[in-house]
Amino acid sequence: MGAIAIDKTGNPLPQETIEACFNCDAVLFGAIGHPKYDNNPAAKVRPEQGLLQLRKALQLFANIRPVNTYTALHHLSPLKAKLLQDVDFVIFRELTGGIYFGNKYLSEDALTAVDECVYTVSEIERIARLAFQYAEKPERKQKITLIDKANVLETSRLWRSVVQNIANEYPHITVEYLYVDNAAMQIIQNPKQFDVVLTENMFGDIISDEASVLSGSLGLLPSASLGSGIGLFEPIHGSYTQAAGKDIANPVGSILSAAMLLDYLQLHNEAQLVRDAVAWTIDNKFVSKDIDAINFYFTSTIGDLVADFIANNNTSSANAQNIEWRKSTII
Ligand code: IPM
Ligand code: MG
Repeated sequence: MGAIAIDKTGNPLPQETIEACFNCDAVLFGAIGHPKYDNNPAAKVRPEQGLLQLRKALQLFANIRPVNTYTALHHLSPLKAKLLQDVDFVIFRELTGGIYFGNKYLSEDALTAVDECVYTVSEIERIARLAFQYAEKPERKQKITLIDKANVLETSRLWRSVVQNIANEYPHITVEYLYVDNAAMQIIQNPKQFDVVLTENMFGDIISDEASVLSGSLGLLPSASLGSGIGLFEPIHGSYTQAAGKDIANPVGSILSAAMLLDYLQLHNEAQLVRDAVAWTIDNKFVSKDIDAINFYFTSTIGDLVADFIANNNTSSANAQNIEWRKSTII
């Protein structure tokens, strides 16, 4: 799917790709987008449409984006380390509604364009309930922040009233409401305050890229998209075509997406092992070029290391050998 599918078939999401996805329990997705479409507003067909159609076809209404930081990478963030310690929040982004999927229209004289933002109560309820259920897990801080623009937008006011109603069923959960402009500021100023962040499609797209700055690189963050059966797991970043063929892209967002996929399949120990493997590569500075432009490792080396760590079931002797051997292969 995406640009290559447009080149081959004219369609960013060919029917056989949708069918292949429908025959799976879960889909691990790479990244989408191609620069040849970025500055061509006249393009009628775009790679991203494939992803949007796939989200719609699989009814993936909930996009879950965990944001945390690694102490070893605090120096990469433009924020001070003291602001980053203990940052651990999860964005619940609505994924199949709002301005992304409303009617789009360009007038015949091309002087007026319209994108409608539409939400129904049931669309808001289903993701809000997932967020509340998640927030009440014992390991969470029992707090939800709804990000909206209720001072301006009718859809946001609907979000607020639906969330207020559901909040009555969860008296033990603290619910806060933030306007998106204020939230954009707070994510940078005091990111520790967040636990579960609930928001609509477009705001979630924007604040999740912003939140990736906390972890140090957009290449690190995974996501899970859930709906009515088949889950889709993808890094939050788009395509990185400048890296094509160079073996330098950061694989961590994708690998952690695979960990979320394992969790989805109830393989929780395996998922944890993948996360431990990633943490181990980062702690030992086996990082890609976006993280360390001088002492970096190739994407495939990091992938092999993660695979070795998992195959050896995290035995420290195997890891020690790996470290020595891998350090000798440093680029
Ligand atoms: C994301 C991406 C997509 C989105 C693009 C590629 C259509 O930015 O998953 O955040 O806007 O949803
Ligand atoms: Mg995005």
